[in-house]
Parts: sequence; structure tokens; C-alpha cells
Amino acid sequence: MSNGPVEPFVWGAATASYQIEGAAAEGGRAPSIWDAFARTPNKVERSETGDVACDHYHRFKEDVALMRDLRIQAYRFSISWSRVLPEGRGRQNAAGFDFYDRLVDELLAAGITPFATLFHWDLPQALQERGGFTSRDVAGWFSDYAVQTADRLGDRIRNWILLNEPSVYACLGHALGIHAPGVTDLRAFLAVTHHLNLAQGLALQGLRSTDSAWRLGTTMTIQRALPADASKASATMAERHNDLWNGCFLEPLFLGTYPDRVRAEFEPFIRPGDLQSIRQPVDFLGVNHYCRMYLRARPDAVLGYEHVSPPAHVPKTSFDWEINPQEFRDILLWLHDAYPCPPIYITENGAYFEDTSSEDGKVHDNRRIEFLDSYIHAMLEALSRGVDIRGYFVWSLMDNFEWACGYRPTFGIIKVDFATQRRIPKDSYYWYRDFIQRHRDVARSGGGGD
Ligand code: FCB
Repeated sequence: MSNGPVEPFVWGAATASYQIEGAAAEGGRAPSIWDAFARTPNKVERSETGDVACDHYHRFKEDVALMRDLRIQAYRFSISWSRVLPEGRGRQNAAGFDFYDRLVDELLAAGITPFATLFHWDLPQALQERGGFTSRDVAGWFSDYAVQTADRLGDRIRNWILLNEPSVYACLGHALGIHAPGVTDLRAFLAVTHHLNLAQGLALQGLRSTDSAWRLGTTMTIQRALPADASKASATMAERHNDLWNGCFLEPLFLGTYPDRVRAEFEPFIRPGDLQSIRQPVDFLGVNHYCRMYLRARPDAVLGYEHVSPPAHVPKTSFDWEINPQEFRDILLWLHDAYPCPPIYITENGAYFEDTSSEDGKVHDNRRIEFLDSYIHAMLEALSRGVDIRGYFVWSLMDNFEWACGYRPTFGIIKVDFATQRRIPKDSYYWYRDFIQRHRDVARSGGGGD
């Protein structure tokens, strides 16, 4: 549904609630599954939690001022479901909504367009205790939460991203068990995948019928796999990954079906009418991209395969993630060719490199600059080859709680000294600011950049 005036290209930055807000027990917020998971021994490195994180809940004005100086045009953040609906459904927490009210007002006063994600993995713990996403009821819970939230904030937030990376939530949370809620079970993984799709479909319908002026989209992480060895089994498993990670979310939304090779596994969860409910028009697709994945067959693993490091000769970030900007361009071209794709926003892209502060007190993160420069140019190439891309959000605005790895991986273009909460813009921050300045008009006119 891309009718209406063509939106200008926007340059932005992204974060997520549990990773930055802190104030976990303040203002009436109740625990999410990430609060519970982080308190479970041996789940998060050094037993770190998001209790304080970047203390953004208290420091959002300072953070918005940094965004304004960065000259970004849009900011993607997420709403903490258990801050606004502590039990996950029913009772609204006015103080929770007030926080987002203040944040949005501050953004708008700074000339920054808010893009709000409704679910960036922090499900209210109260709903997990009712089965979470393994329960079909979650579709109604999510849709009610989405409509209540948009009703409350949608006079100023026009862009809504329903889900963030459902494949990570389903796979890392329910098959590998390395993210909350820490489940390792194929049946749970399949149920969660289908219920994420269904929840999104119901919420899209609910939101659309509440206010047709909202721009509704969803964010997927598109990462293709390749086999790490020459065996037939690993080649088959790479296809399985492509189905379970990418296809199981793209195909139901855009084609109203599950990928052929895995369809039978979902049958037990699909009720009549589900696929029609899921196949809803969206105004945009959010694409997150980090890297390709290497994997090999492992019959005893929940999904039948395991992830392995890229080969030694491949350039990598400090996360052991392959650096390959051509792959970024290629997945954008592939999405454009393979699906009836709406306009695309790159809702996350970035890299963890170990940062060291130098004697001048600055962070000279040249490798991040090189990474961002090459990935942005790959995106601009896809744009010049016809892919309708409307924006780019760097991950992340600032260093934050990187899930099971705690505070070790630094993805920010702003360093956060977690002992003092001091923000220190890295060289990449200034580089991005100047890049935005130079490329505002190039991107707007649909050109490919320099
Ligand atoms: C993505 C997540 C985001 C962050 C980056 C590094 O998968 O959406 O929250 O953790 O990876």
C-alpha cells in the first residue's frame, strides 16, 4: 500500500527499549521475559541485566540532543510492552505512556520523525506465564496492545513497526535457547513462528481499521545461509535455514503461504482463515541486515543444523560476523525480485568492533566507519538499480545491552561509559553526521550517491 506522496529518504539511528532504557522497576513497569532471563544463572555474560542499561529513561533529553546534533531525520526505538501494560493486557500504566509521550515530544521538537517498534522481544513476563508466543492467545494480546498503544501515541507517531526480527525471537528464544525465554524445542519454535505471523496479521488489521493514516510495517532480519562444508546434508540444511529464517515470515505476509519445504511442519498450528489474516498489506518492510550465516548439518540439533564461524580468510567484525557489503546489496535486489515488496527501510545495520579510547579521550573507530561506508554504498547501489528504499537506520545510536552478551559488544556510534553514563560520540558519529549532510539530496532524488 504505497499510495500517497512519495516519502523522502530518511537517515536515522535505531535502539530498543530493554537495551537502553533501564529504570526497570520504575514508573510502574513490570518485568519482561528479558528481566527474568537475565536473572537466570549463566544466561547473560557476567550476569549483566538491563536494569540500568543506558539510563535512557532519565537521560532521554540528552540523547535526543545528541540525535539532533547528528542531524538524523528519523529515530527508531521500541515501546516496552510491560511499561505501558504491566500485565501485558488490560490495565494501562499512565506513567509508562507518559514516558513515551515526553520522548516523542522531544523528538518532534528536534525535527526528528519517530518510528516506533511495538515488539522488540521484551514480552511481559505475565504473558509468558500464560504460554507467551507458544499460545495462540498471544495474537489477541498483541493486537490489543498494539491498538491501545497507537491510540494513545498515534497522534504524533505515524510510523509503526509491528515486530522486530521475528526469526530471532522464534529461533534464538525457542530453538537454540540462547535468548529469552530460553526454550529449546522444535514444536515450540514452530508454534511461536506461526503465532508471531498471526499476531502481526491481527494487529495490522486492528491498527488499519483504527486509523488509516498510520504507516504500518514490520521488520525482518534477512540473512541467507550457506553450507560450511561440502556435504549434501549441510547444503540441504542451508536451504532449511533460508526457509525457517527468511521464508517463514516473508512468504506468509507477501504470498499467504509457508515455504513448500517446511509447510507440513506448520500444518498442525494453522487454523482455517489464518493465512488470510496474516497476508495483510503493509506500507513498508523494515529490513535488518548484518551478515550471511555459515552452517552445517547436525542431526541432533533442534533445527537439524548448527551455526559455525565463517572461514578464516573471510573479513569479520569483532562479533565473528562476515563483512560482505555485496551480500547486503544482493539481498535487497533479491527481495525486490522475489516478492511483491512494498517500499523498504533499512531499520538496522551496523557493526560491533572493539573500541579503545585514545589519550585524547576520543574513540577512533575507523573500522566502523569503513563498515558503514561500504554498507551504505551497497544499499545506494541497490537503490540505483531500482529497489525502492526509503531510509537507513544505523544500529546503534549508542552502546547498549547486547542481549545474551551483555555490555561487551559495542555497536554504538556513541560510546557509553556505563560507570558514569557519560556519552562520548565516536568518530563514526561525526562521520555519519557529515555523510548525512552530504547525502540528503542525493538520496532524495533517487540517485546512487558517490
Ligand atoms: C539485532 C537486534 C538488535 C541488536 C542487533 C545487534 O538482531 O534486533 O536488537 O541486538 O542485532
